[in-house]
Amino acid sequence: MSFRSGRHFLQIPGPTNVPDRVLRAMAQPTIDHRGPEFGRLGRELLEGLQTVFKTSGQVVIYPSSGTGAWEACLVNTLSPGDRVLMFETGHFATLWSNMARRLGLDVDFVPGDWRHGVDPATLEAKLKEDGRRAVKAVAVVHNETSTGCTSRIDEVRRAIDRAGHPALLFVDTISSLASIDYRHDEWGVDVTVGCSQKGLMLPPGLGLNAISTKALAASKEARLPRAYWNWEPMITDNKNGFFPYTPATNLLYGLREALRMLLEEGLDTVFFRHKRHAEATRRAVKAWNLEILAVNPEEYSPSLTTILMPEGHDADALRKLILERFDMSLGTGLGKLKGKIFRIGHLGDFNDLMLAGTLCGVEMGLGLAGVPFSKGGVAAALDYLSSGK
Ligand SMILES: Cc1ncc(COP(=O)(O)O)c(C=O)c1O
Repeated sequence: MSFRSGRHFLQIPGPTNVPDRVLRAMAQPTIDHRGPEFGRLGRELLEGLQTVFKTSGQVVIYPSSGTGAWEACLVNTLSPGDRVLMFETGHFATLWSNMARRLGLDVDFVPGDWRHGVDPATLEAKLKEDGRRAVKAVAVVHNETSTGCTSRIDEVRRAIDRAGHPALLFVDTISSLASIDYRHDEWGVDVTVGCSQKGLMLPPGLGLNAISTKALAASKEARLPRAYWNWEPMITDNKNGFFPYTPATNLLYGLREALRMLLEEGLDTVFFRHKRHAEATRRAVKAWNLEILAVNPEEYSPSLTTILMPEGHDADALRKLILERFDMSLGTGLGKLKGKIFRIGHLGDFNDLMLAGTLCGVEMGLGLAGVPFSKGGVAAALDYLSSGK
């Protein structure tokens, strides 16, 4: 690869751009993870994460990717053969359901077209049919990073309540935490799964669970084998800010700084910023005369936008050209969407001019790749961004 001046544009929907403040915070000497300074750090982080998850309950931090936090959620709460209701909203929901099957769970996977979030009415009907209460948990992905469709978790909760069903509710917030409004306690979520490399503006390497008292009670009865992911020793050691094994100390320094940044900006401002950048991006896509994959405007993702390529044009060829010419990475199509779509990530540490640059790169790339489109997407986005909205 020849020399590249300036900064790479990392516009995949995670990992996201890591702010300089976080990078500097991580570049500090590693300390004794059993010493007093670490205990203070651990306690501060667990408290800060409670604010982000909007919970007064237990939060645990693993040295892992998001996939580890998925596994922790399942193995701590369920027993072999337990039925789990899941929804095919896209690639990540599919991967999570595959994991659940491999762990020996009985997955009822409601088919979907990868262009919608979870339908609360279908969920309610499914649970009403379950007279024997065989379903032990409902697991949904809040923001399907493979499609750019969100599921409305408040409505999911209401659907479960209308059915009067006691199932646990698990929510993957891997690409929504600290980007899209989320309320673990208010929405009665039992386990929320998160990770470091998206809205939290950190490199990959931390997996998160927020845990309700109902989930903690379920963990006492659950019989799936668990060792590394076991909540119990974590929670015991976390009381004093420590971990049962070596934590990812320098990532935790980064987390401390990222939490400070999020609280300085204010979570509501963070959510509004993401919504505004998503709206500007959609205006660009509309002006380009291209199609957004998400069908239902209520489910448009604030953290990424997924764009369908016109028939006969390969999204990965466009992405390759944009990477080579403009040094910008865009998200690839995952699973059955390979080659058919590309994704623009607009989450994490991001501002108007970063979005303007991103959209310029896409518009120039569309032209160079010979994709049929109308010019004017960047102008439409800039008009919106400068309109004071
Ligand atoms: C919604 C969602 N869930 C789960 C995962 C898996 O996380 P990881 O790749 O960190 O294991 C991802 C990764 O992008 C994701 O976007």
